[in-house]
Amino acid sequence: MVSIRPLSQAEAQAYAPLTFPAYRAALARPAERPAVYVGAMDEGEPVAFAIGGAPDGGFELVSLYVSPLHRRHGLGGAMLAAIENALGPTHRYGAHFLTVREDQPGPALFLVRHGWRQGAVRQVVCRMSIEAAHRIPWRGLGRARTGDTMLAWDDVPAGPRDRLKAALESGALALHDTVEPFQYEGTHDRATSVALLRGGDLVGWVITHPLDADTLRWTCSYVLPGLQTAGRVIPLWWSVVERQTAAARHAGFIWTVPMDLPRMAAFARERLRPHADWLGYACTFVKDFTR
Ligand SMILES: CC(C)(COP(=O)(O)OP(=O)(O)OC[C@H]1O[C@@H](n2cnc3c(N)ncnc32)[C@H](O)[C@@H]1OP(=O)(O)O)[C@@H](O)C(=O)NCCC(=O)NCCS
Repeated sequence: MVSIRPLSQAEAQAYAPLTFPAYRAALARPAERPAVYVGAMDEGEPVAFAIGGAPDGGFELVSLYVSPLHRRHGLGGAMLAAIENALGPTHRYGAHFLTVREDQPGPALFLVRHGWRQGAVRQVVCRMSIEAAHRIPWRGLGRARTGDTMLAWDDVPAGPRDRLKAALESGALALHDTVEPFQYEGTHDRATSVALLRGGDLVGWVITHPLDADTLRWTCSYVLPGLQTAGRVIPLWWSVVERQTAAARHAGFIWTVPMDLPRMAAFARERLRPHADWLGYACTFVKDFTR
């Protein structure tokens, strides 16, 4: 028989395999922000796990997972209700960040069934194997210009870095925080993160992070706006494919493009979709608790 109950942070450790790798490490640390944990067991085995957080005073459904054999019996709904009952009464709104895969609409339908609505679509998300990436005619889609230099992100000299930082700080250049490279440094993958220099200036980059044992996340890829028309980001992506192949650690990658970079988003939908394992949209779902 399945039983659901709230968990302390210490008890929640046993449920770590039922959430994203990115949250597992956080589970082991003392809570940086208030969190609510709910778990379900069947015959002593964890079968469902939910995390609700209250970052910056808001209510976020951080993670909800029901093991495949226990789905479609109301368990997900009961777990969600437990989190909502804990946090809903003290919050006006709840938020959940979900990538809605074209081939798997179930989780989005589940949320809508429980009174959540889809808000902003933030990014196109694409999952591809390295093997499939080698079938894309990258060279025919865009080339580097003579004089452009492609190099590892860690090898970008101080001068170009400092000039880009200064342009960002002074407001001479405005970048959406999903593509601003410096905030993604530190934990980046050194073997595959790359940069593009032109005339001594830093004009493009792809910053990557290991996501799980199989998957490298191309977290942030960008070329400065004047260059996007000429397909200048293509050589950067091809370079990451080559570097990821040589590193031979991750069999595939997840790649995101902000919706407010329409040319890159269209490129993902039109050119990459045929080669992708799946394509989806990173969406924000919200629930209004004032009604
Ligand atoms: C989304 C998830 C939590 C749902 O758990 P669950 O135990 O199946 O949910 P419930 O049984 O309470 O609710 C089922 C209802 O949600 C909707 N739903 C859930 N999965 C669905 C699917 N694959 N296709 C269509 N509708 C689906 C339906 O309305 C369904 O009602 P029905 O079974 O009467 O048709 C579970 O599928 C899961 O863990 N998925 C993987 C992790 C994930 O995507 N998490 C994001 C959570 S928002």
